[in-house]
Amino acid sequence: MNFKRTLITSALPYANGPVHIGHLAGVYVPADIYARYLRLKGQPVLFVGGSDEHGVPVTIRARKEGITVQQVVDRYHDLIKDSFAKFGISFDVYSRTTSAVHHKFASDFFRTLYDNGKFTEQTTEQFYDEETHEFLTDRNIKGECPHCHSAGAYGDQCEKCGRTLSPDELINPYNAVNGNTLTKRTTSHWYLPLDRYQQWLEQWILEEHKEWRPNVYGQCKSWLDGGLKPRAVTRDLSWGIPVPVEGAEGKVLYVWFDAPIGYISNTKELCDSQPDKYGQWETWWKDPSTRLIHFIGKDNIVFHCIVFPAMLKAEGSYILPDNVPSNEFLNLEGDKISTSRNWAVWLNEYLEDFPGKQDVLRYVLTANAPETKDNDFTWADFQARNNNELVAIYGNFINRALVLTHKYFEGKVPVQGILTDYDQQTIREFTDIKQRIEELLDNFHFRDAQKEAMNLARIGNKYLAETEPWKLAKTDLARTATILNLSLQIAANLSIAFEPFLPFSSEKLRSLLNLEQIGWDALGKTDILTEGHILKPAELLFEKIDDADIQAQLERLKRIKKENQEAAWQPESAKNTATIEDFEKMDIRVGTILDCQKVKKSDKLLQFQIDDGMGGRTILSGIAQSYPDPQELIGKQVLFIANFPPRKMMGIESQGMILSAVNADAKLVLASVSKPVKNGAQVG
Ligand code: 2FM
Ligand code: ZN
Repeated sequence: MNFKRTLITSALPYANGPVHIGHLAGVYVPADIYARYLRLKGQPVLFVGGSDEHGVPVTIRARKEGITVQQVVDRYHDLIKDSFAKFGISFDVYSRTTSAVHHKFASDFFRTLYDNGKFTEQTTEQFYDEETHEFLTDRNIKGECPHCHSAGAYGDQCEKCGRTLSPDELINPYNAVNGNTLTKRTTSHWYLPLDRYQQWLEQWILEEHKEWRPNVYGQCKSWLDGGLKPRAVTRDLSWGIPVPVEGAEGKVLYVWFDAPIGYISNTKELCDSQPDKYGQWETWWKDPSTRLIHFIGKDNIVFHCIVFPAMLKAEGSYILPDNVPSNEFLNLEGDKISTSRNWAVWLNEYLEDFPGKQDVLRYVLTANAPETKDNDFTWADFQARNNNELVAIYGNFINRALVLTHKYFEGKVPVQGILTDYDQQTIREFTDIKQRIEELLDNFHFRDAQKEAMNLARIGNKYLAETEPWKLAKTDLARTATILNLSLQIAANLSIAFEPFLPFSSEKLRSLLNLEQIGWDALGKTDILTEGHILKPAELLFEKIDDADIQAQLERLKRIKKENQEAAWQPESAKNTATIEDFEKMDIRVGTILDCQKVKKSDKLLQFQIDDGMGGRTILSGIAQSYPDPQELIGKQVLFIANFPPRKMMGIESQGMILSAVNADAKLVLASVSKPVKNGAQVG
């Protein structure tokens, strides 16, 4: 399809850490493919990115690293920007929400809505830390989960059971940073009354945008079905854009209010600096003939489909998104990618380990893109797709076509003679490729579109395998010439078809073919290279990836998993949540192990016979894997809780709980006393 003008935005990543493969797969590679594709078609495109430098995540990172928030955002903005550039993410602008342009723009935007009565003001009770004199955001509050009772659940979500929470639901809430217990204080904030936009949003999304991806449409529907409520657009924080209203000292714009405005302010920054090249920013944001497409991850859907459109509608002079192609999540080796657990492949580290192989990662992430459901990245798949597809199909075809042309025709594109039925059939197989890829890309099906490009390489490979020009060269040079001419035309086609997906390889291929950039319109043609055109010497387009390189990555992940297990076993640092009364409820005593056996049919349980100084008792404990030879424990003194109600496991009644600690190998070690003590002695 031909569009007059397309504005592409990609979610602004928080500048609180480097970017990883999940970011790339979910947002930036698809957005880049789309931008490159439209540019290749000669359509006006503006691709906007930038760092999200406000909000709680950056402040948490600053506290953790013991540096200022400004230092954090400076460090990660530079790192993220550099990673994107190295991966060929072709932003027209990549700015940041701490820029002066953005601060003024977002502040003015708020003020316009404020002046036009678009906000409501509400006073509510919020958690407050009396010692640090601050109101706490949901993420900065922790406590016991009311559902699964795990310690350390966040005020907005329990990471153990995954349930969404509000801080009020937490049992014994405390400040996640310093462990302080919290009080409640009243505070006033401005709210965007989303309920007022409910009807309009229902019509606009549910009726007028049925073509949005099912995951996006479905999430919007469930928000709308649940009934929209007013959302606070300000926060009590010191880091952020001050609320431009008298008497609002100590309050800043909520990060989710200012971040999407970053798309606009970044456009303005670019257009104002180069108006001749990019025109007026208003043309991109206010002219109804501009299409606006937001690329995001699934956790951002509500903000881009409901909150931001409501903000734009409230302002009144902006266009709204045409589509919001949101991806699901990418997992890593079966586990959720997590910045805090270091469970990720960081782009900056990937580039150190696989220099020059940006396209391999782009290829694998698109081949495996989580377009309709969460998907898994595995290093084995990465290696297989590189070795069996990029090297064995695409690279191999290009190499054979080039090497044979050099061998038999001095590196010049040979004459295309009479085409056989088989040649015609091969041509028929790929001349409609342009239409096929276009249809897929126009509908944001990037994975299938890339598959089509790889199929073209398959067609080329098969053509060479069937026609065997290396055998014909001695007897029929004219036929060899035709075969190689057609093969080289396919190679030129591949450089176009893969350009949006693998820009570095396409550039290299064009250079081998000695071609300037070719437009999308040439795709499917069989006369791109003229007869006699001189080619460059053959070079490999892709290299095999060795088992050793993959093994090194797997080892790294294994190491991280072990570190995480150990960290998970560390006791939570003191949180001021237990009282002496809590402790006194526990009857902890010393006992001697008289006997210890494995429980039949259980991998984990050991059955202890304990001399507890009170006539003896049986206790079961799930530590069999840490003590493969239970007999060695006989005669040792241990600590146990004596006043738990008896509990049956595997048909045996357990009368208490033996205490243990965890060592560095994540093995359990029974807790004991440092000198012999009378059995039954109380611990306290
Ligand atoms: O989820 C995130 O990483 C947010 N920083 C995305 C913001 S997108 C936009 F609104 F800026
Ligand atoms: Zn929970």
